[in-house]
Amino acid sequence: MSATYPTLRMRRMRRDAFTRAMMRETSLSAANLIWPVFVVEGEQRTMEIASMPGVERMSIDVLVDRAREAASLGVFAIALFPYIEGEKTPYAEEAHNANGLIPRAVRTLKEQVPSIGVITDVALDPYTSHGQDGLIDETGYILNDETIAVLIQQSLTHAAAGVDFVAPSDMMDGRIGAIRQALDEAGFFQTKILAYSAKFASNFYGPFRDAVGSAANLGVSTKDTYQLDFGNSIEAMRECALDVEEGADMLMVKPGLPYLDILARVKSEFKLPVAVYQVSGEFAMLKAASANGWLDYKKCLLETLMAFRRAGASAILTYGAIDAARWLNGK
Ligand code: PBG
Repeated sequence: MSATYPTLRMRRMRRDAFTRAMMRETSLSAANLIWPVFVVEGEQRTMEIASMPGVERMSIDVLVDRAREAASLGVFAIALFPYIEGEKTPYAEEAHNANGLIPRAVRTLKEQVPSIGVITDVALDPYTSHGQDGLIDETGYILNDETIAVLIQQSLTHAAAGVDFVAPSDMMDGRIGAIRQALDEAGFFQTKILAYSAKFASNFYGPFRDAVGSAANLGVSTKDTYQLDFGNSIEAMRECALDVEEGADMLMVKPGLPYLDILARVKSEFKLPVAVYQVSGEFAMLKAASANGWLDYKKCLLETLMAFRRAGASAILTYGAIDAARWLNGK
């Protein structure tokens, strides 16, 4: 006799807190979180970002204190993004300045908060006068191979500063293999690559572009000729397959919540740890709705993070990492 209602009652196991806890299939802890931060020049300096309430750009000394706090809460990885106030150029020379903001931030963090894992973005958009992730030709088209040459310089600069992961977010063809080879030739075989493999040309990146200060330079231009079309998933799987073959240590799906189908598919098709990026626009939506009293920020943030875990994410980049870690630690 196969049990069905009324012999079988699914709600029996949901009645008590202990059985609900016992049957929970997915876990979430601070160790699953990666905290993306915006770095700025200066001392004891913080700057608010209007479209990302509660997120601040911070100078390296402030970042060191916050990174210590993150580590004490069990968040063991941070992803650095620069806010560049100096001159931006067509060839993004600042992107591989060994004494630039990001290499200095990496060196300082590795020296002062050795327990924290440091991830740097490899892409040119914070540094280019036109706000694109790569170099452009006279028609504005993003040049692939010429861009890779600069991304290699940028990666080597970060590796020399001691970064744990470089994370190419530019979507040029062949960059993972080229960066891996260059790192290995320079002796940086321990430097890991977190590949933004399935990165879509999303409209949810708006607040981030304010935060790194690339929005105005980008103007009305799009990134449609290199980031993925959001109608596609087969193409996203092909990108992942290529990055695996080229030597990625970890793959990423970005954005997060609107792309859970992609995340679940990447997890099931590739035997690699997968990260997901809950991007600035997703965070802004949660914050805006909760500021209006329409959603509960804490409960909804934790629900989205659990959803990423359920869909297969090993790591989740979220601007709410510190908030979530506090709550997960019962603080
Ligand atoms: C650019 C980059 C972007 C993000 C991370 N790296 C934006 C873009 O592609 O324009 C977006 C992150 C976010 O929205 O939180 N290399």
